[in-house]
Amino acid sequence: MKFFVDTAEIDAIAELNDLGMVDGVTTNPSLIKKSGRDIIEVTREICAMVDGPVSAEVTATDAETMIAEGRKLVEIAGNIAVKVPLTWDGLKACKVLSDDGHMVNVTLCFSANQALLAAKAGATFISPFIGRLDDINLDGMELIEDIRTIYDNYGFETQILAASIRSVNHILDSARIGADVITAPPSVIKAMVNHPLTDKGLDAFLADIKAAGIKIL
Ligand code: E4P
Repeated sequence: MKFFVDTAEIDAIAELNDLGMVDGVTTNPSLIKKSGRDIIEVTREICAMVDGPVSAEVTATDAETMIAEGRKLVEIAGNIAVKVPLTWDGLKACKVLSDDGHMVNVTLCFSANQALLAAKAGATFISPFIGRLDDINLDGMELIEDIRTIYDNYGFETQILAASIRSVNHILDSARIGADVITAPPSVIKAMVNHPLTDKGLDAFLADIKAAGIKIL
């Protein structure tokens, strides 16, 4: 499973990247706003740091302008994936940009039928939003399962990029189902390390190290 980091914060990406845990990055207009940076500048910096795909989202809603924005975004670096919304115009832009040979991430996916359309339009990635479905008492993981089944039934190569991840359980469930990629905030990825028995076991070992005066260096 590939790990993408869902942020535009350079320091947070760098910390995980140094540990080899970053296979790509996703951004969106809200994350760019939160960073307080210019979209082109911050995206260029992220692309220089990370080898894998870096998703940068268009701002337009009509296909023609989305395509023009996408063509400008891909000039930033060779690892840009143009992010377009799952609308009819977004699918048109997806088809044109993917036919041009660019990576396209179709975002704001909330149904398996939408995911089927995105695959047919040549999407490199489909981003189903788990957390936002859970927020309205629907089952985000069920959507990941449905898309996995449909894509496997017909051999679609579009990668399932499980997005809107809010907890470590979302990551575990996505891995069990076989999502190709997860994108999560750095804090959620880092929380995967936590286990109370690890802390308890380490406390006991530290007590014995002190009591026995064990030294290595
Ligand atoms: C994915 O590409 C999106 O940027 C992101 O996962 C949205 O997450 P949110 O629903 O927590 O805002």
